[in-house]
Amino acid sequence: MEWRALLVLLWFLSPNHQGPYHVSSRFKEQVAAPILMSREHFYNRTLALHLVEYASAVYVDNPAALLTWSCSRCSGLTKGFKLSELIVDANFNLQAFVGVAENLAALVIAFRGTQETSLQNWMEDLYFREYSFNYPGVKDALVHHGFYSAYHNTTLRPRVLAAVTSVLDKRNDLRILITGHSLGGAMASLCALDLAVNFGTKDVQLITFGQPRIGNAAFAAYFNAFVPETIRVTHGHDIVPHLPPYFSLLGPRSYHHFAREVWLTELNFGILRLEFEFICDSSGEDPLCSRSVYGDSISDHMEYYGVHLGFVLESTYR
Ligand SMILES: *[C@@H]1O[C@H](CO)[C@@H](O)[C@H](O)[C@H]1NC(C)=O
Ligand SMILES: *[C@@H]1O[C@H](CO)[C@@H](O)[C@H](O)[C@H]1NC(C)=O
Repeated sequence: MEWRALLVLLWFLSPNHQGPYHVSSRFKEQVAAPILMSREHFYNRTLALHLVEYASAVYVDNPAALLTWSCSRCSGLTKGFKLSELIVDANFNLQAFVGVAENLAALVIAFRGTQETSLQNWMEDLYFREYSFNYPGVKDALVHHGFYSAYHNTTLRPRVLAAVTSVLDKRNDLRILITGHSLGGAMASLCALDLAVNFGTKDVQLITFGQPRIGNAAFAAYFNAFVPETIRVTHGHDIVPHLPPYFSLLGPRSYHHFAREVWLTELNFGILRLEFEFICDSSGEDPLCSRSVYGDSISDHMEYYGVHLGFVLESTYR
C-alpha cells in the first residue's frame, strides 16, 4: 500500500474530517453500490455526471453532427439536447455551444479545451502572464492574460452572450449551467462571472473539469462572491489544476484557485478498488485535495467520471 493511500484512509476514518462524502467501492469489474455519505448538498453528483458529457461533446469537430445533436457523444445523458448556437472561432481554435436541456430545466453553455497535440505547448504558456482584472468593485485582482483574452477578446464572448439572450428572451424558466474542461473550464468560469457581474444574471451554476488556476486570491474571492454555486472537479494526478503553480511565497500575486474543489481519486488495495470523491474546503487551495499529490498525469486530465474529454475526429457517418 502506498503511504498516501494510508494517509487518505486515516483521514477518512478520523472523526473531524471534512470529507470524503462519497465513496464507491469496486471489486475488479464488479461495481458495488456507491456508499453515499453526503452531508454537503451543494455538490450534486448527478448534475456533474450530466455536465461532464456536455464538456465532452463540445470537443466534437463536426458542426453538422452537433447542430443536429447526432454525434457519437450526443447520446446518453445529453439525449434530447437542443443546440441553439454553435460558436467557432477558427483563428484561435475555440469552440462553444449554447442550448437547452429540458431534462435539467436549463440553458447549457459548454466551452471546449485545447487539442491534445497542443496540450504541451499550451501548458508551457501557462506560467505567469498576469493581467490586471478590472471588473466593477474588485481591487488588486489579477487574471491570466491568455484566459482573459480567449474569452474577452475573441468572437466567443459576443456570440455566446447573443445566443444566451436570444434563448432567455423566450424562456424565463431556465437556470443557467456552464461547463468546460481544461482551457474550456477557464473560459466557462470567466463566462459565469461575466453573466453574474455584468448582466446580474441569477441562477448561474458552474461545474468545470480539470481547469487551471486563472487568477490570484483576490480574483478567487471575488469569483466566489459572485458565482457561489461553483464546483471545480479535479481528478487524481491531473497536471492542469496544478498550473499555473500556487506559490505561497508570492503572497497576493500567486495564482490561487477558487472554491469549491471536488477531488476524484482512486485507490487500489489489492483486488479492492476504492473511488473517493472528496468535497474540499472553502479555501480553494485545500492541501488535502489534489494539492496533496503531484500533478504529473495527462491521462488523468483526459478522463473524468469515466468520460473521455478530448478531441474526437468525426466524419459525417451517422
Ligand atoms: C441534482 O441534480 C439533478 C439533475 O438536475 C436533480 O434531478 C436533483 O434533484 C438534484 N439533487 C439535489 C439534491 O438537488
Ligand atoms: C485584444 O486584441 C487586440 C487586437 O488583437 C489587442 O490589441 C489587445 O491588446 C487585446 N487586449 C487584450 C486584453 O488582450
